[in-house]
Amino acid sequence: MCGIVGYTGPRVATEVILSSLKKLEYRGYDSAGVAIVGEELQLHKDKGEIAVMESTLPSFEGGVGIGHTRWATCGRPSKPNAHPFTDCQGRLALVHNGIIENYAEIRRELLAEGHRFTSETDTEVLVHLVERNFEGDLRQALVKSLAVVKGTYAVVLVEKGARHIVAARKENPLVVGLGVGENFLASDVTALLDYTNKVLYIMDDEVVEMTPEKVTIYDPSGRPVQRRPEVISWSAEEAQKGGFEHFMLKEIFEQPEAIRNTLRSNLEILENGGLLGNAEASSVKIVACGTSYHAAMIGKYVIEKVAKVPVAVELASEYRYGTGAKEHPLVVLISQSGETADTLAAAREARRRGCRTLAITNVVGSTLTREVEEVFYTRAGPEIGVAATKTFITQLVGLYLIAMRLAQARKAMSVDELRTMRAQMQQLPQVVRKVLDGSSKVEEAADMLADARDVFFLGRNLNFPTMLEGALKLKEISYIHAEGYAAGELKHGPLALLDSRTPTVAACPKDHTYDKMLANVAEVQARESPVLAIGFEGDRDLAQVASRVILVPEVPPMFSPFPITVVLQLLSYYAAKRRGCSIDKPKNLAKSVTVE
Ligand code: F6R
Repeated sequence: MCGIVGYTGPRVATEVILSSLKKLEYRGYDSAGVAIVGEELQLHKDKGEIAVMESTLPSFEGGVGIGHTRWATCGRPSKPNAHPFTDCQGRLALVHNGIIENYAEIRRELLAEGHRFTSETDTEVLVHLVERNFEGDLRQALVKSLAVVKGTYAVVLVEKGARHIVAARKENPLVVGLGVGENFLASDVTALLDYTNKVLYIMDDEVVEMTPEKVTIYDPSGRPVQRRPEVISWSAEEAQKGGFEHFMLKEIFEQPEAIRNTLRSNLEILENGGLLGNAEASSVKIVACGTSYHAAMIGKYVIEKVAKVPVAVELASEYRYGTGAKEHPLVVLISQSGETADTLAAAREARRRGCRTLAITNVVGSTLTREVEEVFYTRAGPEIGVAATKTFITQLVGLYLIAMRLAQARKAMSVDELRTMRAQMQQLPQVVRKVLDGSSKVEEAADMLADARDVFFLGRNLNFPTMLEGALKLKEISYIHAEGYAAGELKHGPLALLDSRTPTVAACPKDHTYDKMLANVAEVQARESPVLAIGFEGDRDLAQVASRVILVPEVPPMFSPFPITVVLQLLSYYAAKRRGCSIDKPKNLAKSVTVE
């Protein structure tokens, strides 16, 4: 996720900005830049690490400036796409985190008015909008500009020859650090802690103006807001984790936002036919590894149901051994990192076989994006914990949207049905939020698993792969042996392993599999294996058959993997925590698997 910093005061601004930006490196980034206010605006930026940009940084003079680390979302990672951006006159410089949804339309208008653009980003429209609206008052110009913008932002501006910094926020973090005769601004407190621990959190739709002496926050109607500063007692490491004990937990809790961002930046593209033009593929193959493979398996059920297209799923490491006979015309490759060696090899193989290729990835400009014809970007933001959580859930969002796109192209769903599904998808952030609100119950339930040597995870239909993913999560971070099974397969072997020391987790949403799942739960309990059942709110029957029940908000059956996944992630997390495991960096595992 991008990082923002700003400084105004007596120090050399470049030094403060560079050291603060370095504190935000943990957020992940692909380019960096600074703008320092002097008689002229002094701008420097580059692709790659902050150290690369710093190595060629001229010695800019001035005590006011802004800096940025960019995690590419709109436009490749490149020097021209790095922030800050300046207006046509070189009077203003701006950095931004978030997404400007209607940037294409605004850019067209501004181009027609003669504004000159230098990047492919959505952000650049903001600085030109402010330039258009600037009549001597930077704050007013920003407010007027944001009124026509759809999307989310933390946006920060400086002006040639001025000591003030103006910023605004909507759904992207922004915090002011209060000093004596100097003030700071950043995406999170980590960047500020070397200078101050007194902070003011900026809220949605607020605008802030700061000089070395004064900070004023304005509410949406332009009235000054009185806010008491908070004193931060976190260490820098605690601050990076936003107060969470581990990155994995922080990332689990970021899922509502990750889903919202993925929907926001892709819904319209898909609905306007911006991806998979002539999407008439008679069959689809989805190829991936690990957690991404489980997303692929869920995607198969959804695409087949919604778009009525047959879907095959294959492990990327196995794809090369296929003969290519009767190859599927469309191959979808899923990789959160976009760097997994087996998935890259599969993408090349798919093209060699003459298939159309589409990647689902979280990393703009990753190698996979260059190996395929089309890309669907999940907008989870960087994931630091090795275990995939928010990237998995946003891959699901991607697959559901692609299913809708195929259904639309093939007329497999009516306009009304598509509209209903769209509305159901838009409820998902709230559904996930509710599950997270009940995390303490999941923490208690995790005690059932924490001391086990083996655990079974059972589900049917599209929750069979959900449970495969639940088992993978548990084994990778807690080192407990876990097996995911299609519940109907139980009698064909694994039942022999069940006893009172082997707990089972069962997905029991109220759908067409419910009665059979209930029978399976009873079957397992009869072997004395304690069952932790996950069901929908309002279900009273589950408690009669299972040892313990976790209830999640009821959703249309097709969406049940979303709340169930969140419970499974939390279960693994809390079980691993009880066992004292190295949760963010499990032994023997790497975030990006670049060898075959
Ligand atoms: C598990 C996990 C791995 C990855 C797999 C593929 O939590 O993260 O199983 O899913 O290594 O990685 P990507 O999606 O980057 O291709």
